[in-house]
Amino acid sequence: MAPRIFITGGTGYIGGSVLDTIVRAHPEYHVSALLRKVPEAFSSTYPNVQVVSGDYDSWDVLEKAASEADVVVHNGDSDHEPSLRALIAGLLRRPTPGHLIHLSGTGIVSDFQSPDYLGKKNPKVWSDVSSLSEIASLPANALHRNTEVILNQTVAEHGDKIKIAIMCPPDIYGKGRGLVKTWSAYVPMFVKEVRGLGAVFWYGEGENTRSWVHIEDLMSLYLNVVEAAAAGGGGAEWNDKGYYFASTQEHTQRSVAEASAPVLKRLGVMEKSEHVQVGNEQLAAMVSYARWPGLARYLFASNSRTVPDRAKRLFGYEGKAPSLLECLEADTVDALGRM
Ligand SMILES: NC(=O)c1ccc[n+]([C@@H]2O[C@H](COP(=O)([O-])OP(=O)(O)OC[C@H]3O[C@@H](n4cnc5c(N)ncnc54)[C@H](OP(=O)(O)O)[C@@H]3O)[C@@H](O)[C@H]2O)c1
Repeated sequence: MAPRIFITGGTGYIGGSVLDTIVRAHPEYHVSALLRKVPEAFSSTYPNVQVVSGDYDSWDVLEKAASEADVVVHNGDSDHEPSLRALIAGLLRRPTPGHLIHLSGTGIVSDFQSPDYLGKKNPKVWSDVSSLSEIASLPANALHRNTEVILNQTVAEHGDKIKIAIMCPPDIYGKGRGLVKTWSAYVPMFVKEVRGLGAVFWYGEGENTRSWVHIEDLMSLYLNVVEAAAAGGGGAEWNDKGYYFASTQEHTQRSVAEASAPVLKRLGVMEKSEHVQVGNEQLAAMVSYARWPGLARYLFASNSRTVPDRAKRLFGYEGKAPSLLECLEADTVDALGRM
């Protein structure tokens, strides 16, 4: 029987790309997708994808859909606890172990909450093989930790009945494949702040360093993990070892800003190719997002350095898509088109 895959977040940047990637690579899979609003072109683009109507608070809908799936790929909101609990409850109703592929993010290892390395390079590089026990004991206020705690507890209590993989991408760039939201977070937010300031910017020395991945490279990793799950789990690692960083490169804030300056000048976003060094007050006034206080510190002044040791070993994973600096112009043009 064809594997049954249930996907959430299928209209989002990451989830929409995951849905498209799976459907195109495996038309033989039975795919269902949770949607709270069905995009106009959905049924013509994905005629064989079954729509499950509901949102992340529709416990019964999520539990039932997960109980009927072999593989659940949960995207869209890495911090939403009820949806995660409902999906786990559904998978645990299956007579045989099902697979849960959950989207987290390297915000979990970001140092943005401490002043120690703001604007400076933090030498700490996290591995998804050798740093796992450190990641599993991060404080409760680390980003996405709330849902990773639920996943860790589920593995401890029910590891014989469920197989879990945590996908932990760094900042993502490049055009998504989905039908609705096809852009990431950083470049649009950076461009908006540059427009306000009239110059590219960094904090302190600007040497804070973050890992990055192109959405297409991330999709190749998702495909590897989903295919392994659909085939019963072999070839990938799960539960205590089911953690996947996806980085393919890293950049300092200063290098991203310097590479952006000529592009932003050419596109009329700023007049001179100059930069400004922002301080704490300016950072605090940027990117207001109530759910995520300190988002600008995270985006522009912190370090989050990760290496995908597991994916390299299991799948020979490496970046094949153009680098962030090569994609800055296209992502900037895309962002300006919506401003
Ligand atoms: N983008 C990055 O660079 C990055 C990197 C690492 C981790 N992450 C994390 O990954 C997650 C997804 O990011 P993204 O960029 O793909 O987000 P996104 O483009 O905003 O997509 C969000 C998706 O989740 C759905 N969704 C959100 N809340 C929902 C709810 N209550 N009920 C039903 N559906 C809901 C949205 O559906 P609608 O279309 O109906 O709104 C949409 O499909 C975030 O938590 C983010 O922190 C992002």
